[in-house]
Amino acid sequence: MSTPSSRPWQRHGSPTVARFIPSSLLFCAAMLFVACGEDAPPGSNPAKPAAFTATQVASSQGLAPARGFADQSGGGIFATPEGGAVRLRLDGTKAALSPHPKNLATLGRVVATFRLGPHSALVETDTGLFLADQGWLIEPLWQQVLGTGIVATAQTADGAAWIAHPTGLFQIQGGTLASLKLSGQPLSGITTMTAAPAEDGLPGLWFARQGKLNVVVASAPGVYQVRGTDAPITAGETVEALAGLGAGTGVSGEVWVLTSTRVLRRNTEGWTTVELPSRPQQLMGAGRFLWARSDAKLFVFDADAGTWGVAEGLPSGTPTLLAVDESGCAWVELDGRSLAVSKGAVPRLQGLHQGMLVVEDGMVLRATLPPGTPPKSVAFQLDQAEEIASAGPDYSMGGLEADAVTLKAFSFATVTPGGHTLSVVSRFEDGTEARRAVPFTYQPLTTTPSYARDIRPIHEARCAKCHTTSPGRPLNTYDLWKSNAQLINASVRDLRMPADGPLDPQGIALIQRWVASGALP
Ligand code: HEC
Repeated sequence: MSTPSSRPWQRHGSPTVARFIPSSLLFCAAMLFVACGEDAPPGSNPAKPAAFTATQVASSQGLAPARGFADQSGGGIFATPEGGAVRLRLDGTKAALSPHPKNLATLGRVVATFRLGPHSALVETDTGLFLADQGWLIEPLWQQVLGTGIVATAQTADGAAWIAHPTGLFQIQGGTLASLKLSGQPLSGITTMTAAPAEDGLPGLWFARQGKLNVVVASAPGVYQVRGTDAPITAGETVEALAGLGAGTGVSGEVWVLTSTRVLRRNTEGWTTVELPSRPQQLMGAGRFLWARSDAKLFVFDADAGTWGVAEGLPSGTPTLLAVDESGCAWVELDGRSLAVSKGAVPRLQGLHQGMLVVEDGMVLRATLPPGTPPKSVAFQLDQAEEIASAGPDYSMGGLEADAVTLKAFSFATVTPGGHTLSVVSRFEDGTEARRAVPFTYQPLTTTPSYARDIRPIHEARCAKCHTTSPGRPLNTYDLWKSNAQLINASVRDLRMPADGPLDPQGIALIQRWVASGALP
C-alpha cells in the first residue's frame, strides 16, 4: 500500500510556500518593555503552587520513558520498555491494540507515540509510522516517507496536522504529506513545536530551530509565513521546549516556552516570566492545563482558575512526563512503573472533545469515572444552566430510552449557536468535587446535504483509496455509506478517520449534517 516511489509529498499544483517576515519592530517593543523594570520586573509572575495530594491510577503495564499519547476520554497509547505499543484505559488496564491484518509493513520496535487528533495517535517504530485508531495500528500511505526521529506533532486551530522531523516540517493535507519550504529549503533541525495562536491571534504553529523561536501562520489558504516572534528572549538564552494551551470558553489559547534560564508564558496580555520554585526540565500542555516537571516535582497550572498546584504523595524517584490530556491528567513513568496523575478523580466525558464543532442537534454524551471511591453524585451542566443529575452505571446526560438499556441522545434544540461549555462534576462524601469542563462550538444544521452532491466528492478524495476493497471495509456506494452512517459519523467526528490525516472542519461538518438529516441520496 505504501509506494515510496510515488513521493506523495512532492505534490504538483499548489506547493506549500513560506515567507520569512522578520519582526524587528516587534522585537524593539519587547526590549523596551523588559528594560523598564526595576525591583520586580514587569511581566514577572511568581507562581505560588499549592500542594495537593495527587490522585494516582497505577497501571500494571510498565512504560518506557518515551513520549506517549493521552486520550482526553481516558487512557492513551504508549511505548513499553520491550519496544511494543500499548493502549491503556482510564483504569490502567490494557485495551486491544494490534497491527491491522492488511498492513504491508510489519510493526517494528516502538520508539514513541504522538498525538494526531483527540482520539488518534501516530506510533513511530524503527520500521516506519503507524496510525493508532481504536484497536488498530494502521499503515498510512506515507508510511515510509519519514524516517524515525519525529520531534513533535501538532494540530493548528485551522484543522491542519503537522509533523516536525529532523528533515523538515511537514503538513498532512488531504492525506498527503507536504514539506514546508523556506526559500526553497526544508525547515530542518526543529527541536520543539506546539500549536498556539500567533501574536496577532491567528492560528499559529510555534517551533524552535537552533534555539531560536519562530511561528508559522497561514496568511492565505495554503500559504504560510514563518515569522520571528516578540518573545523577550535575551542573547545567549535558548529555547528548550514549547507547550501550547488550547482555547477555553471566551479565552484564546496561549504558548509557554521553557528556555535555558526560565519559563515564559504568552497569552493575549503579552509575555510574562513565570517564576516557579525551580526551573523545570519538562513542560507539557493540553486543553487548559500546563504541566511542568522539575527534578522530582510535578507542577500543574490550571489556566481557567489561574492557579498552580504541586503534586504530593507520589512514589519517591524522579518521574518522566510521558503525556498530558485535556482533563488535567498527566501520565508519568517512574522507575519503570506508570502512573496517571491528576488533582482529583476527574470524570471523563465521552462523545464530546475539547473544542469540538457540534452540528448535530442530538448527541449521546456520557461520563466515565476513574477507579477509586465512587462519587456520591454525578451531574452534567451546560454553561451556567441548572445541573442535570445522572445515575450510574451509564451516567448518560440524556438518560435512557424506554427500553432502559439504550443511551438516549441529549437534545441541543434549545442551545443557541456559538461557544459553550459542558461540564460533568463528581461530588464525593468528603465534600470534595472533581470537574471536567469541555468547551465546544455549536453550529446547528442549516443545510440538508446530499450524498451525490456533498458526500461522494469527500469519499473519492479522502476515503476511496482505503475503503474500496482494502484495507478498510468497502464504503464505495451510497448504500454502504448509508448503512454505515453512524459508524462513519463517529469516526470522522472523533477525528479518527481518514486514517491518514484529518478532514478539514467543513468536510467533518458536512458528513455530520448529512447523517443527522437522514443520509439522503
Ligand atoms: C489510509 C487508509 C484509510 C483512509 C484514507 C480512510 N480509512 Fe477508514 N479505515 C481504515 C482502516 C484500515 C480501517 C480498519 C478496518 C475497518 O474497520 O474497515 C478503517 C476503519 C474505518 C471505519 C470503521 C471503524 C472505525 O474506526 O470507526 C470507518 C467508519 C471508516 N474507516 C471511515 C472512513 C471514512 C469516512 C474515510 C474518509 C473520510 C476513511 N475511513 C478514510 C483505513 C482508512
